[in-house]
Amino acid sequence: MARTPIICGNWKMNKRPDEAVAFARELAPKVAEFGNVERAVAPTFLALTAVADALRGTALQVAAQDGHWAAEGAYTSEVSVTMLRPYVSYVIIGHSERRAYLNESDENVNRKAKAILAEGLRPIIAVGESLAQNEAGETVEFVRSQVMAALAGISAADMAEVVIAYEPIWAIGTGRSASGELADRIIKSAVRDTVRELYDDAVADSLRIQYGGSVKPGNMEEFMSQPNIDGALVGGASLQVADFTALIEIAARVKG
Ligand code: PGA
Repeated sequence: MARTPIICGNWKMNKRPDEAVAFARELAPKVAEFGNVERAVAPTFLALTAVADALRGTALQVAAQDGHWAAEGAYTSEVSVTMLRPYVSYVIIGHSERRAYLNESDENVNRKAKAILAEGLRPIIAVGESLAQNEAGETVEFVRSQVMAALAGISAADMAEVVIAYEPIWAIGTGRSASGELADRIIKSAVRDTVRELYDDAVADSLRIQYGGSVKPGNMEEFMSQPNIDGALVGGASLQVADFTALIEIAARVKG
């Protein structure tokens, strides 16, 4: 089953609004021509509306790095999915940095996923094990539990809008990526087959699953050549126009 690959750059807490807009303007024409690949960037909230304005009418989509499930209310510092709706196509949730430093729980990831789908947007749900869990052989069981918790109560129809990003924590920002084959094996057993059990073959086979963790131009082809990997969630290499352009070009060539 053909799945449209999706490459999303997660800028994390990088790029001030002026830098973010300049970057988006430079990047958009460079990646305009590549075939059947979805491409998105996730700027800081502070730059989100300006980047969305700069990219309107281009093939480069905007993602948010998080979004609160309540439409509005007394949640100091939070930004609701409802507020994001006019500006973004995707909302990243459950990133391991938020889970590790900001107490993001599986329960909140699930609430956020439901709110994102209810607003007609698409969640990119990040899951992944720590180094300790990996070394203890707990990877599949742990990632499976994250997937099940995140998807609780989400309908088969809504699953068409969901993207899951498998990001082993030990590979994020470390320069140490999983091998393509290993990532593919975990993605299949812990994510796609879990979704198969929860839903059915059609849902599992059409689910888009990204790999994330030290993806760069030098290893992108290895990841994109795997049967279960449908794109990448990219931190460091999304901060350079040349690198991010190369990633999209490789995805288009291998999978587009
Ligand atoms: P990285 O980050 O590409 O810098 O490893 C990936 C991520 O956190 O999504």
